[in-house]
Amino acid sequence: MEFSIKTRLPEKARGTVVAALFAGGKFTDDVRLLDEASGGALTALLARGDLSGKAGSVVPLFGLPGLACARLLLVGLGEEERFGPERYRAAVAAAVAALKNSGATKEILFALASAAPWENSADRIRETVLAIRDAAYVFTVYKRGKHAEKADAEKPLPPFVLPVTRAEQAAARAALAEGEAIADGIDLARDLGNQPANVCTPVWLQHTVEKLARAEGLRCKVLEQKDMEKLGMNALLAVAKGSSQPPRLILLKWKGGREGEAPIALVGKGITFDSGGISLKPAANMDEMKYDMCGAAAVLGTLYTAARLKLPLNLVAVIPACENMPGSTASRPGDIVTSLSGQTIEILNTDAEGRLILCDALAYAETRYAPETLIDVATLTGACMVALGHVASGLFSRDEALAGALEAAGASTGDRVWRLPLWEDYQEALDSPFADMTNTGGRPAGAITAACFLARFTQTAAWAHLDIAGTAWKSGKNKGATGRPVALLTRFLLDRAAQQQAA
Ligand code: BES
Ligand code: MN
Ligand code: ZN
Repeated sequence: MEFSIKTRLPEKARGTVVAALFAGGKFTDDVRLLDEASGGALTALLARGDLSGKAGSVVPLFGLPGLACARLLLVGLGEEERFGPERYRAAVAAAVAALKNSGATKEILFALASAAPWENSADRIRETVLAIRDAAYVFTVYKRGKHAEKADAEKPLPPFVLPVTRAEQAAARAALAEGEAIADGIDLARDLGNQPANVCTPVWLQHTVEKLARAEGLRCKVLEQKDMEKLGMNALLAVAKGSSQPPRLILLKWKGGREGEAPIALVGKGITFDSGGISLKPAANMDEMKYDMCGAAAVLGTLYTAARLKLPLNLVAVIPACENMPGSTASRPGDIVTSLSGQTIEILNTDAEGRLILCDALAYAETRYAPETLIDVATLTGACMVALGHVASGLFSRDEALAGALEAAGASTGDRVWRLPLWEDYQEALDSPFADMTNTGGRPAGAITAACFLARFTQTAAWAHLDIAGTAWKSGKNKGATGRPVALLTRFLLDRAAQQQAA
């Protein structure tokens, strides 16, 4: 998709113009200009009741007098008092859906961007690019053209022009580049998530990451099964051993910071398919467990964006990748393993596998890289989805500054998180009669006890855990990966880089 920044008047633009009005027919500045140029044509339509400005509405208008455009889309923003980032993103999505179904082939002047609810134009541009790219995303790799949808879905949208004043141009161009790099990271995460598990295996992920590293100047290293056996990553191996797909620990580095500066480590759960293992999941919706590597996908998307933006930070991604299957060599409920940290775990439920691969990955990340900040991202618990639905990801941390920074990044991107407690009181749910701990804390507070389990495997770094079970993908008619929380993580890193530069 193509975007450009230009100084343009809506009434002079050819092709398609997208502009906005509020409920009750309150015009934005651009619509006022269009109305004047057309001799009050829009005021007349409003008087006849054809323009409501209702949230989600899009009215296409053709051949208006006095205007150079072939097509004007008027997008409703709803009541002005209730207008904000969420409503704006929904309006952009409605506009993009209408554009997809329209005959637009020439430039689109996206004047709607001027109505975006951010004070400065750089924010308006970046958030608009992200919202357009989010709405325009399609995954058509396996659509083979027998049905017309394929052609429709893949028809590229015409180039978008984002209007700014002359004074705003330089900052707006930088914001556009930033927005596109973030959108590319989000798209990468969505593409990886949407791949089926028969394609996206641990080894396929490895090859994909190796290609990415070569293209973007990242460093990639991979541990295979025998390497993990030597190190004693027995918790991870206990999950992998029920599958014929060999596991991988994929390590990816971006060195944009000072030599010797402690890195920020991102750990992403990479279960390429979660059948539950011997504690087999029920059949309904089990296909969605191909999305159990969305934590890994988000971490990879984030490193990709960081490299594209040449962030002045040292970053390392640690991706434990394997498949959770009930083969004859699978772990059984009751099995006891010694994790990389030396702590023993009684596996009471083989479906609580995410924490088993993450505990070894966290211990590895901490001892190998001595990170200053350690963040793991995982589709960890159905309980987190029950608690927060599909709106917020769960945030867990004992570090107030880190939790605050992640909350702020979530709020400013709309990729929101909600913090849940990690109090010691919850730890006893993991008591085992035979080992240092069990891998399940039972039904109560399932998202919290999972996080408490992970907490036992970090010692030195400021650590946070993001449970994205409810936010990483959508179910139903619009099934698909969301790319969350790439937007949050990249914002967190951009903020961190800006702070360091200021200090
Ligand atoms: N990958 C799942 C969590 C999940 C389930 C995410 C449904 C999104 C939708 C995870 O590995 C899992 O199975 N967790 C169990 C833990 C339980 C056995 C303690 C769960 O949430 O039921
Ligand atoms: Mn599971
Ligand atoms: Zn899982």
